[in-house]
Amino acid sequence: MEFVKIKDINNYKDKNITLRGWVYNSRSSGKIGFLMLRDGFGIIQCIIEKNKLGEETFNLFKTLTQESSLELKGNVVENERALGGYEVLVDSFKIYQVSKDYPITPKEHGIDYLMNNRHLWLRSKKQHAILKVRHRIIKSIRDFFDNNDFTLVDTPIFTPNAAEGTSTLFETDYFDQKAYLCQTGQLYGEASALAFGRHYNFGPCFRAEKSKTRRHLTEFWMVEPEIAFCDIKENMEWAENLLVNIVSEVLNNNSNELKTLERDISKLIEVKGSFPRLSYTECIDLLKNGNYDIEWGDDFGSPEETYISDQYNKPVIVYGFPSKIKAFYMKRDPENPKVVLGMDILAPEGYGEIVGGSEREVDIEVLLDRINEEGLKREDYEWFLDLRKYGSVPHSGFGMGIERVVSWICGLSHIRETIPFARTMSRLNP
Ligand code: 4AD
Ligand code: MG
Repeated sequence: MEFVKIKDINNYKDKNITLRGWVYNSRSSGKIGFLMLRDGFGIIQCIIEKNKLGEETFNLFKTLTQESSLELKGNVVENERALGGYEVLVDSFKIYQVSKDYPITPKEHGIDYLMNNRHLWLRSKKQHAILKVRHRIIKSIRDFFDNNDFTLVDTPIFTPNAAEGTSTLFETDYFDQKAYLCQTGQLYGEASALAFGRHYNFGPCFRAEKSKTRRHLTEFWMVEPEIAFCDIKENMEWAENLLVNIVSEVLNNNSNELKTLERDISKLIEVKGSFPRLSYTECIDLLKNGNYDIEWGDDFGSPEETYISDQYNKPVIVYGFPSKIKAFYMKRDPENPKVVLGMDILAPEGYGEIVGGSEREVDIEVLLDRINEEGLKREDYEWFLDLRKYGSVPHSGFGMGIERVVSWICGLSHIRETIPFARTMSRLNP
C-alpha cells in the first residue's frame, strides 16, 4: 500500500492510510495510547486503543521509545484540538526498530553535547525548521537567478591562488605543488560572466578563520553572481532585489517553520525595496557621533556593523570603502582613488555583513600594482589578466553567505545551527 506523507494528511479525511516514521514521543494513560509520529514531512498524533488492538499489541505499543521506527495503518479523523487539525486512529502497526537510550531527550542539553550529536539533533523540531528555511532560501536564490537569465557555472574548489587575502587560506598538498581550498569562486566567475553575460556559482567556500565568533564558519556556502556590462549601482540593485525576493519567499512558504523558531516576523515584513545606501565616510561620521573610537581607514568590527544597521529597519548598503581594507580586484573610484567601488550589505538586527561585492578593476596596470602590494604572485593571475585583454567590459558581482542569511532570517543567536554539519576552528566532527 502506498504510504501517505503527514503534510498531505488533509487529503485523506475518513480514509484508511499507511504512515511511516519515527516516534517523536509517546505516552499512555489507562487504555489509550498517544503517539506523536514524525515522518520528516510533518508530525501527527496517533491514537492507540487497547480495546481495539488487544492487550498484547497495546503492550507492544508501550515498548516504543523516542525515535523508534515504525509503520502504522489507521483512519484519519478531524480533531480541531490536535496539532494540524487531524489525528489517526490506529488499526495496526509494524515496528522496524526499537530505539534504545536515544541521547537527545526533551530535557535541556548543553550546546556542545548537542553539536556532538548533530547527526541526531537534525531530527529535533527547531533544527528541522532551520534547515527547511535554509532549503527555501537556496531554492529562492536559484529561482531568482534562473528566472533572470543567469547561467549556473560551477567554479573549482582546488585553486592555485588567494582571491580574498592570504590570511585565511587552507593549504593542501597537490601532488608536487601546493593547492588552496577556494575562499571564493569569483575570479572564475569573472571568466564565466564574459562567456555567458550573467553568471552565478553556488558552492562551499573555505576560510581558516582563527576567531571564534557567532558569525564565522571555516566551511560555508556562498552564492556569487557576476554580471557583464554592470556597474556598482546596478550591482546594488541586483543584490537588493535578491534579498527582497528571498525574504518574501520564506514569508510566503515557511510560516510554520518561522513559528516553530518563534521568529518575530514583523521585522522581516519590513524588508521591502529601497535599502538605505550609505558611504563608508558617512558611516564613520555616524559612528563618531555614536562615540565609537574609529578613524577613517579602519575596518568595521561587529559592534560597528551592529550600530550602523540598528539605525534602520532594513538591510543597509555601505559603499566606497578605503582601498587598503578591501581585496585587490575592486575597482578604484575614478573620482577618488583612495576608495574602491565596493559594497557590503549589513543585515538588520545586528546580523552583520551578509553580502560583499564590487565593480571589478579592469585596468591591468592598477591590478598588477595591487597584486604586488598584496604580495601575490603575478604568474598565478596571468589567466585572470587575460580577461582584461580580450573583450574587457565593465563588470560587477557580489557574494552572499548563505549561513549568515539563514541566521538572520531564522533569528538565531549563532551561525553553527544554520548548516547541517558545522565546521569551525574547534569542530570537525561529526
Ligand atoms: O565579503 P566576502 O569576503 O566577498 C567575497 O568573497 C567576494 N569574492 C564575493 C564576490 O564579490 N563574488 O564574502 C562574501 C560573503 C560575506 O558577506 C559573508 O556573508 C560570507 O560571504 N562570509 C562568511 N560566512 C560565514 N563564515 C565565514 N567565515 C564567512 N566569510 C565570508
Ligand atoms: Mg566582506
